Amino acid sequence: MIKDFTHQTALITGAASGLGLECAKRAAELGMHLLLVDVNAKALEAACQEITPLTKALDSSCHFFVCDVSEPSAMMSLGEQVLKEHAVPNLVMNNAGIASGGLIWEHTAQEWDRVLKVNVWGVINGVTVFTPLMLAAAQKDPLWRGHIVNTASMAGLLTPPNMGIYNVSKHAVVALTETLYQDLRLVSTQLSASVLCPYFVPTAINESFNDDLGCTTRSQIISKQMLDKAVISGKVSARDVALKVFDALVLDQFYIFSHPQALGNVQKRMQAILDNTQPPDPFALRPEIGWELRNALKANPNS
Ligand SMILES: NC(=O)c1ccc[n+]([C@@H]2O[C@H](COP(=O)([O-])OP(=O)(O)OC[C@H]3O[C@@H](n4cnc5c(N)ncnc54)[C@H](O)[C@@H]3O)[C@@H](O)[C@H]2O)c1
Repeated sequence: MIKDFTHQTALITGAASGLGLECAKRAAELGMHLLLVDVNAKALEAACQEITPLTKALDSSCHFFVCDVSEPSAMMSLGEQVLKEHAVPNLVMNNAGIASGGLIWEHTAQEWDRVLKVNVWGVINGVTVFTPLMLAAAQKDPLWRGHIVNTASMAGLLTPPNMGIYNVSKHAVVALTETLYQDLRLVSTQLSASVLCPYFVPTAINESFNDDLGCTTRSQIISKQMLDKAVISGKVSARDVALKVFDALVLDQFYIFSHPQALGNVQKRMQAILDNTQPPDPFALRPEIGWELRNALKANPNS
């Protein structure tokens, strides 16, 4: 869809860290104007400062907006400000997200709310605010092209144990984005959508567990420890993922995977649905993860 990124505008949420920050850097290298959004004001300003020399060198710009994506009114105001002061973004990346884990019946209502608000409502708000602006820009100019990328996860295609809220939130993002793609096909050939499904990538995502709400029971603490380990030891970098995202945009590729080698697990899940058999081990290709989890949950909490 977007074939040439030069002087096109990209709006990225969760841009102060990890995948969002690396996608912002990649967009800057490709000559895009940047609108960076995050709730962490200090890190966001630092990200914009880091990227600005690159944008200046390519005659583009970098602006930042401190905004909580989970708040519909804040996102509505963001849309109004962007429309007043900048071009309608050609690329909107709804990427901000947080982690959670633990046995699915052990979460408080507050923890469900905390995670669903950022991971699901953040994407809903981004799509609700920016899709109409993008469609209007497309209608005004037949040459205008746009793309919306929503960050889900492989947890949006699998159902790994001990990470229930996160799985639910990311399955919602996959469903939302597939529907967005179908709905856009009804009304425009100038705007498309993709869903990014990363596996474990070293970023700060493991730090977004809430120690008071989401890290109190044994299963939640184990989940945090296992996520720390999996994220830190991830071999595919956030930079690698950012390169894949922009390659996929040029091809109008819908599903963007950081680890296509992990798709065997998705195939097994899909096959179980077709065969009407029990859900398979989502880590079937690495059964030691399941053993480790089972043993940790069984171990004496006082040992
Ligand atoms: N890193 C991984 O292994 C991995 C795997 C699968 C999916 N993901 C997804 O990738 C996306 C990016 O995460 P990351 O790994 O780069 O983590 P990260 O923690 O490094 O970056 C996430 C950014 O989102 C921001 N953010 C959090 N809540 C926000 C809110 N309410 N409003 C605005 N900004 C907010 C944070 O301040 C942070 O800068 C998330 O949606 C995450 O679920 C990550």
